[in-house]
Amino acid sequence: MATALTPQITSRLPQVGTTIFTVMSALAQQHGAVNLGQGFPDFDCDPRLLDLVNQAMRKGLNQYPPMAGVEALREAIARKIGSLYGGEYDPGSEITVTAGATQAILTAILAIVHPGDEVIVLDPAYDSYEPNIVLAGGRAVHVPLTPGSFRPDFAALCAALSPRTRALIVNTPHNPSATAWTAEEMQRLAELLRPTETLLIADEVYEHMVYDGGRHESVARHAELAARSFIVSSFGKTFHVTGWKVGYVAAPRAFTEEFRKVHQFNVFTVNTPMQHGLAAYLEDPAPYLGLSAFYAAKRDHFRAGLQATRLRLLPCEGSYFQCVDYSAISELDENAFCRWLTQEIGVAAIPLAAFYPSPFEQSIVRFCFAKTATTLDEALSRLARL
Ligand SMILES: Cc1ncc(COP(=O)(O)O)c(C=O)c1O
Repeated sequence: MATALTPQITSRLPQVGTTIFTVMSALAQQHGAVNLGQGFPDFDCDPRLLDLVNQAMRKGLNQYPPMAGVEALREAIARKIGSLYGGEYDPGSEITVTAGATQAILTAILAIVHPGDEVIVLDPAYDSYEPNIVLAGGRAVHVPLTPGSFRPDFAALCAALSPRTRALIVNTPHNPSATAWTAEEMQRLAELLRPTETLLIADEVYEHMVYDGGRHESVARHAELAARSFIVSSFGKTFHVTGWKVGYVAAPRAFTEEFRKVHQFNVFTVNTPMQHGLAAYLEDPAPYLGLSAFYAAKRDHFRAGLQATRLRLLPCEGSYFQCVDYSAISELDENAFCRWLTQEIGVAAIPLAAFYPSPFEQSIVRFCFAKTATTLDEALSRLARL
């Protein structure tokens, strides 16, 4: 009898290892540190939303929904986009409910990127973009946001465009830098892309967290950009339910058709009762309209506490992240500083270098302030030693 061979797998993603988020969270737990590293709330959602999902379950809405998503939810999403940004999306043919923004982005990339295509990623960038591009057989072309300010560098962006550029990914408000694109920047982007066939993936998961009277420059406000875009958002971020993994994509009909071809054979659908619950909850705009004020109070409280330390605060225009420059305190690299901060001070943060393709040191780390006042106060009392 022939010896049974153990099949070996040639990795599709040989570069991918354990993420820094997992590493830092494990370290935080080991040392009893306050975890301001991972980007999700440590408080619960509105109980009304739980009731609405529960009612949907008890009504028996537990079987497959339509492939594109529950109709009432797609209609509610279209109304939200229309009323906030003036963008018109047909719920039937232009909106698709996804398993969070993560699946939305992967599916959009698989739908549009062919082997050899290039996709421009602005660094620092959310960690799923590049592996998604690689899985599609494409190549990520990295263009740094301007170091220091994290504003888009249009000259560098222009230089990176090539006949092979299939898409550009823009994330505003931005994780990790907490910047938000301005109307002028969106206009410059529209002008830059005008003579090209570059598609835009607009990652707008923090759309409802913009501070100090600023407004979210959704691509849906800019008809010219919207015509080349997949807009991605996430109810996980908006309603404090990151574990539910429900998001959506809004895109012109022809793009949505291709998107749904992949979606259909990828997840096919997203869980039904959550969709019904979210549809009913969206009837009242107050929860998402109030989100900026809710997080601005947390941001202000956290920033006020940090003012007492030698950490230098970077601006926080949007998202629930606060970056700080620690160069007045330590010469350690960002990774080592985060380890030290976790072990010695008892607060976990994420090195900004983790959001770059190869380590790029700026002495900046990211905190997440989507935490209860108790958690933030505990972190601040420990950070006061700095
Ligand atoms: C910029 C950005 N995009 C996408 C996601 C993923 O969103 P979701 O949890 O809905 O998949 C995150 C989550 O942290 C994010 O920060």
